[in-house]
Amino acid sequence: MRSVDKDTITDAFIAYCAKSTEPRLKFVLSKLAAHLHAFAKEVELTHEEWQAAMELLGRAGEISSPERSEFILFSDVLGLTSLVDMVNSGNGRTAYSNLGPFYIAGAPWLEVGGDMIGDNEGEQIVFYGRVIDAASRKPVQGAVLDVWQTAANGLYSNQDPKQPDFNLRRRMKTDANGGYAFTTVRPAPYTVPEDGPVGEMLRATGRHPWRPAHYHFSISAEGLRPLVTEIFHDDDPYINDDPVFGVREELVVRPVMETGLSGIPCRLAASDRLKPPFYRINYDFHI
Ligand code: BEZ
Ligand code: FE
Repeated sequence: MRSVDKDTITDAFIAYCAKSTEPRLKFVLSKLAAHLHAFAKEVELTHEEWQAAMELLGRAGEISSPERSEFILFSDVLGLTSLVDMVNSGNGRTAYSNLGPFYIAGAPWLEVGGDMIGDNEGEQIVFYGRVIDAASRKPVQGAVLDVWQTAANGLYSNQDPKQPDFNLRRRMKTDANGGYAFTTVRPAPYTVPEDGPVGEMLRATGRHPWRPAHYHFSISAEGLRPLVTEIFHDDDPYINDDPVFGVREELVVRPVMETGLSGIPCRLAASDRLKPPFYRINYDFHI
């Protein structure tokens, strides 16, 4: 197109893509261009605003490293990460929710009913349930459930030199009934990194950086789509305004207080080390 104007620039972009462009790539890029162009027109983006945005992206690149992606964090606080999770949830499966940046592969294995509390202080939790095949509604034996969380100080093991490697991180294979169970401590709220451009954006818009406390789970089983999700406590002070939009009603639990083991339906390796009152969370994952 020789002369492009604001009404034809989107069509020009699409026309410039070669016929041989992979169809999905062409579709996604065409829509991206269409929405970006519509956005710039709708807000009448000024040169100064465009310049500030480009500089922000430049600073995001500078502060990023193999351990930290400021771009993913932008995606998180803008709601894009969670929207991708929502678009890919459904069909009776448990909702996806943030993987986050603190996952470490290769956590130690724990038997069903095993203990993750170890030397950790805090409110003790018995967490148990089943992994169910969302299509057949049958329990999934041998599903691998990877769990990781913060300690009661709001730090993950890889942020806190005082915690042993893989503290509060375990993998477990579900039993013949699709069951899993472990003992742990209640995690704590923590802030998303706010020392970079994402922090600038949060402050400029009066938003706080505190994520409600959560347990991360990644669950996989042969022949089924892996599930990455989080479970939240309903009485968390930040449950109604997670800065990364990870909370969904079905992922919020109200732990039940127990004064003894009679209400616990599974064998626990740490049963003699539980100090009443402790809490139980019963949650079934549908994958
Ligand atoms: C997390 O849950 O670990 C997390 C998620 C998004 C941004 C920062 C942290
Ligand atoms: Fe997290």
